[in-house]
Amino acid sequence: MQARNLRDLEKALRQTSYKLDSLGEELGPEDPVTFCTKTLGFTPTGYQREVLLDESQMVCLLWSRQSGKTTTVAAKMLWTALTRPGSNLAVVSPSMRQSKAVIGKMARLAARLPTGRVESIQKTRIDMANGSIIEAYPNNPHTIRGPSLNMVYCDEMNYIRDDKDLYDAILFTISATNGTFIASSTPGSSDSIFYQIWNNPAYKFSRHHVTWKDALEPNGPLKQNLLPTIRAQLESDPWRWMREMEAKFAENQESFFPLELLTNAVDEGLSYRDLAEQVTGKTLYAGLDFGKHRDYSVLAVVEHDRETKLASLVHLHRFPLETDYSGVIGYAKRLVDQWKEIVRITTDTTGVGDVVTAEMRNIGLKQTWGITFTAKTKTDILENLHRSLSSKRLKLAYDNDLIGEMNSERCEISKSGQLLFSHPSGTHDDRLWALGLACYGMKIGLSVTEYHPAIMFGKHVPYMPKLRWNPGQPSGLFFPEGYRNVTNTQ
Ligand SMILES: Nc1ncnc2c1ncn2[C@@H]1O[C@H](COP(=O)(O)OP(=O)(O)O)[C@@H](O)[C@H]1O
Ligand SMILES: [Mg+2]
Repeated sequence: MQARNLRDLEKALRQTSYKLDSLGEELGPEDPVTFCTKTLGFTPTGYQREVLLDESQMVCLLWSRQSGKTTTVAAKMLWTALTRPGSNLAVVSPSMRQSKAVIGKMARLAARLPTGRVESIQKTRIDMANGSIIEAYPNNPHTIRGPSLNMVYCDEMNYIRDDKDLYDAILFTISATNGTFIASSTPGSSDSIFYQIWNNPAYKFSRHHVTWKDALEPNGPLKQNLLPTIRAQLESDPWRWMREMEAKFAENQESFFPLELLTNAVDEGLSYRDLAEQVTGKTLYAGLDFGKHRDYSVLAVVEHDRETKLASLVHLHRFPLETDYSGVIGYAKRLVDQWKEIVRITTDTTGVGDVVTAEMRNIGLKQTWGITFTAKTKTDILENLHRSLSSKRLKLAYDNDLIGEMNSERCEISKSGQLLFSHPSGTHDDRLWALGLACYGMKIGLSVTEYHPAIMFGKHVPYMPKLRWNPGQPSGLFFPEGYRNVTNTQ
């Protein structure tokens, strides 16, 4: 309590001295647009100006990728912090790493402020000389409810896990200060508060919509030369293109991994480990999917915590196209040398994978374990992955590419009852298979030492994914989520 009083006193002193210092100079620019052009050194686009000048208490931005969401709100927050001494501003996002990136963007803009305005800059916090604080907060309703916040910004809100609880906490905290809430995102799951905010008139938000066409240079920051790359990556997946570029809610109903499932698996504290980092005290399982010309080779590493029995994806490396298999093997060897806890590397032995897997064992990677992809093994691998996610035993880092790739995987059920997995032509699912292989290797590894129904009862216990009503079936049959009845299989 005493420490808190002391901090309050220090803050009040800082504010007083700031006001005294600023008597002889102009306190700040009169509006946030002029602030951006004159002080921060960038010219806001038309749609950015609208947000900068929007004085509504609740503001929602549904904008395409690379349209300048984070930059706009970062500038607005800096302006608010400077013009309202002693205010508390918060940034929340799907991961702490992302929140740090938002603070980093603000810090780069803040570097252009006149000297004496900023007191200190840290990775998660900026302190202004006038006593205002901009700080990254974890996605924890209790932490958000604690202080009275004058402005809260949720970056990529549609990818924040459990956004309902967070939203309630934000309303609570800004009600004390009559503060402002800004939510920005590319569209994600429709089973979310962000979706409600955008679509439900009961949520009193000022709404701003920006598509890639609005954001394309010279009108916006989306670079013309970046467009072919984005097109190549997204256009063959119409749902992803629609979400990320047209900024429209769209989800493939045949997706085996719905966005909601993936968003809920994101652990905000998790980020990929670098090869140079030390990993100790955990059991690691790697999965390796081979590709070279058309598909990528990808290596995924999942860490299993023996105490909590939870698994986390801690490393995901996609090799550039045309990487020699010797390069892929070399990387796996380095990984095993560095992270001695890798107990299994599960590989796909289909096609060339057979020879590469044999070579891995030859050079001493004895933990290599090959699986040949058949309709049956593919089903086992992806069902196992689905089950790990839905039972919340597997956590993912916030990785937009992985989420997009997994969500693109479709599942159909053939006449003979077999599951058929596919992804839109021109898109990739190598990250998904590498992760699936790692988790499958982990499941097999753990089943040797732990309870497993197949061992207990001597038979295979089939996986039953969540069932949902399929109104398309005249007989009213139930089909599992992500499955579709295929009538025209060749
Ligand atoms: N008005 C602008 N003028 C010039 N560059 C901009 C402008 N707005 C954003 N940018 C740049 O465009 C890129 C994408 O902006 P960002 O805010 O990260 O977009 P988003 O959050 O929508 O993905 C960044 O490099 C940013 O610096
Ligand atoms: Mg952004």
